[in-house]
Amino acid sequence: MISVKPEALHGARTAPEPRSRPDDGPPLLSVDDLRVTFTTADGESLKAVDGISFDVRPGETFGVIGESGSGKSTLGRAIVRLLDPTSGQISYDGQDLARLKGRALRQRRRDLQIIFQDPNAALNPRMTILDSVREPLDVVGKGDRASRIARAMDRLDRVGITPEQARRYPHELSGGQKQRVNIARALTLQPRLMVCDEVVAALDVSIRGDVLNLFAEIQREMGLSYVFITHDIGVVSHISDRVAVMYLGRFMELGPVEAIAERPMHPYTRALMAAEPVPVPSWQRAPKRPPLQGEIPSPLNPPSGCRFRTRCPHARAACAETVPDWRPIARNHLVACHFAEEIAAAEQ
Ligand SMILES: Nc1ncnc2c1ncn2[C@@H]1O[C@H](COP(=O)(O)OP(=O)(O)OP(=O)(O)O)[C@@H](O)[C@H]1O
Ligand code: SF4
Ligand SMILES: [Mg+2]
Repeated sequence: MISVKPEALHGARTAPEPRSRPDDGPPLLSVDDLRVTFTTADGESLKAVDGISFDVRPGETFGVIGESGSGKSTLGRAIVRLLDPTSGQISYDGQDLARLKGRALRQRRRDLQIIFQDPNAALNPRMTILDSVREPLDVVGKGDRASRIARAMDRLDRVGITPEQARRYPHELSGGQKQRVNIARALTLQPRLMVCDEVVAALDVSIRGDVLNLFAEIQREMGLSYVFITHDIGVVSHISDRVAVMYLGRFMELGPVEAIAERPMHPYTRALMAAEPVPVPSWQRAPKRPPLQGEIPSPLNPPSGCRFRTRCPHARAACAETVPDWRPIARNHLVACHFAEEIAAAEQ
């Protein structure tokens, strides 16, 4: 469950409030060995998502972090079936979404919504705010016109958009207001899971906390689950229940947010945490860890063995030869590194 204090996004020295954690009941979403391969203009295969497995529980915020190009958005789009997975399973409430087609897929998709970084992405510039928020209800033919307008107005009111603002066009609103409209639009069909892809990255720092708090309130009211994608460790570590760290199409580490922020075990996570200059509070920083060096390699030709080896200060011969197992290192904590325990112990 999200709990955000705006000051937490500006490097405050306080620890986040303890969260009420969703229990370990059956998952809402279960992703198994998901792969998405693109064919580039040159005919090459680009494995943007390359064998990812995880669960999302009801009411949980599942954070995904990683550098640009690591495959986060591709993963998010595949989950809501905005693009077709190449292989793997996406079980939602017992149904395999990856195999659904046509009408069955359209019906299921209502439960799964996505909000993007660009507040303009889902808003038609020629439609009023009210019409944009009403549109999903029109598409599914839910209720009569008056009830659709009432529902849309109710959702807009919930996110803090006034009736006067609802009559405006997108260019007449600020970025933060437009992102609120996008939240209202995504809520019209009462989803159970929302993929939030860098949803505050384009907003002014001064309003990020407010918008994140709105996500938190809505989650509490509606029992929503979030897959929260961001490259901002400050954001992810303050809003997530669990966090997955993605690199070149794979997860490197996955665990409860406290473990990932305070006791990261994978050298990539440890370097990411050391590299973050401002949003990570001082109590989370570990000055002894070397910061991340170099650029992320091309996913067209990922390194053999461990994908992180070309940037890992601890790489050895075995790292080039063998792909590290995705293995439990503690309760609910998984890591893909041959030497994680040894490295973490040496750096303490
Ligand atoms: N439609 C596409 N066709 C070919 N390659 C693509 C396509 N979409 C994404 N890619 C490639 O897949 C890889 C992962 O892209 P993706 O957008 O998922 O990364 P990301 O982690 O979301 O990055 P960012 O933080 O910059 O948003 C990148 O190398 C990207 O160039
Ligand atoms: S497996 Fe080797 S290269 Fe990969 S993160 Fe661990 S030590 Fe570094
Ligand atoms: Mg992205």
